[in-house]
Amino acid sequence: QAASIPADRAPDMGKRQLMNLLLLGAISLPTAGMLVPYATFLAPPGRKGAGGGTVAKDAVGNDVIAAEWLKNHGPGDRTLTQGLKGDPTYLVVESDKTLATYGINAVCTHLGCVVPWNAAEKKFICPCHGSQYNNQGRVVRGPAPLSLALAHADIDDGKVVFVPWVETDFRTGEAPWWA
Ligand code: FES
Repeated sequence: QAASIPADRAPDMGKRQLMNLLLLGAISLPTAGMLVPYATFLAPPGRKGAGGGTVAKDAVGNDVIAAEWLKNHGPGDRTLTQGLKGDPTYLVVESDKTLATYGINAVCTHLGCVVPWNAAEKKFICPCHGSQYNNQGRVVRGPAPLSLALAHADIDDGKVVFVPWVETDFRTGEAPWWA
């Protein structure tokens, strides 16, 4: 095989193939990365749009069944699940032992640390730079500039389903900064 390629051209061919490979990689990687936001952009907003909802997953990756969850999580509980786009999202149990119709995205609006719930203080307190959010995720102390993002927590076929929250933020009366 090697004999069919003139000796002086062989290194050239190798170089060209390598260049092609590099070029292919340079083009296809960003393209693949761009498809996701582009698809998200094209998808029409709406509560019940196909693919708009994501079933909440518990810590071991199982779908969250609302009735089961409420057996193990009492009033006032805020426990992390996996939400939209894989974001850590708190499920909230109201004082009347029902699930709140909203979930709270745990990603700190300062620099993105996951904010733990402090049950004693009844606040979310960020361990990174001390930002604080009230029990609904509204920011009450900086440096975080914004409240924690919301998602609708619907129940569909017994399972908790997160749906993007595009309506007014009920905590601030403002348009949602995350939508
Ligand atoms: Fe939460 Fe800085 S990342 S306070």
